[in-house]
Amino acid sequence: MRIIGTGSALPKKIVTNQMLSEFLDTSDEWITTRTGIKSRHVISDEKIEDLGVEAVTKALEMSGLGVKDIDLFIVSNVVSEQVTPGMSCVVAEKIGLSCPMFDINCACPGFVYALDMAEAYYKAGKVRNVLIACIEEPSRMPSWNDRSTCVLFGDGAGAVVLTEGDNIKGTKLNAQPDTDKLYMTRTLEPTPFVTKAETSIPLQMKGREVFRFAVEACTHGVKSLLDEVGIKKEDVSWFMVHQANKRIIDSIIDFMQVPAERFPINIQERGNSSSASCPILLDECNRKGMFKKGDIIVLSAFGAGLLSGAAVLEW
Ligand code: UT7
Repeated sequence: MRIIGTGSALPKKIVTNQMLSEFLDTSDEWITTRTGIKSRHVISDEKIEDLGVEAVTKALEMSGLGVKDIDLFIVSNVVSEQVTPGMSCVVAEKIGLSCPMFDINCACPGFVYALDMAEAYYKAGKVRNVLIACIEEPSRMPSWNDRSTCVLFGDGAGAVVLTEGDNIKGTKLNAQPDTDKLYMTRTLEPTPFVTKAETSIPLQMKGREVFRFAVEACTHGVKSLLDEVGIKKEDVSWFMVHQANKRIIDSIIDFMQVPAERFPINIQERGNSSSASCPILLDECNRKGMFKKGDIIVLSAFGAGLLSGAAVLEW
């Protein structure tokens, strides 16, 4: 497949590190040094699905396709107020889209997983045009008394439209199931029969272990994918890495030994927006005119699961 449209949308509320330090035992200095984040956009009075609508509308406009042309709609979403129907149905109703659709919950690498699925459907001859949207509000997952997690996240939506083409050169998905390193639980409605204890636990993260996993999963995943498709790292124009922590990206750059200029970043002003991070970055770079036809772009993301994935495509 080939990407012919990108779009993104952010909540209007910008929260700076300084604002966080007014109610948390933290500082701009700590957050900046440990994460690279200076501010993030977080949901206030918006509904996350409306940001999803904005992102897909922009991506469709750029692509020149209409909702009637789309054969499959995949939405990546970890949490939202809506439990059922899925976020794909909520967004589709608002834009008048009625092709087959489903939601996936693959945490931060959701965009790469969705690209892999879109390509598989395309290669199976089932679709010509696919719409992917990553619609995330991770700011609603941690406790806002927990300085070690809540400072990391920002919300938003990113979308792409794909059509026929052989521009996706390869994808590689990886799983190392371990639900203890990064998780959140919530209770369901009680019934007369449930006797086990259930608790709602806000997002918990073993930061250092997730950090190590992220660096290793990205460097190994990208290297083995590039080897598999026969592309040298020197020939990659852009490495679009999940924006979780600037220090993670710096470590990846060190391990991979490629110039830092080839790793666009927006984490300073976006924070970690889960699976929306890669498509938001892709859209922002695209709209700045950074990509030339023929550019080789690597996408890599990692997160809860522990899941990770990489994709290589030609622009
Ligand atoms: O989307 C993918 C999933 N997430 C990630 O990729 C995150 C991966 N991990 C990380 O980015 C880093 O581990 C963090 C940024 C979360 C934490 O950085 P760290 O260098 O690993 O710090 P730490 O957790 O080891 O904490 C060091 C100290 C602790 O204090 P003590 O025990 O040394 O006294 C923490 O309590 O920093 C303290 N601390 C803070 N201090 C000020 C933790 N959070 C904060 C904070 N402000 N916000």
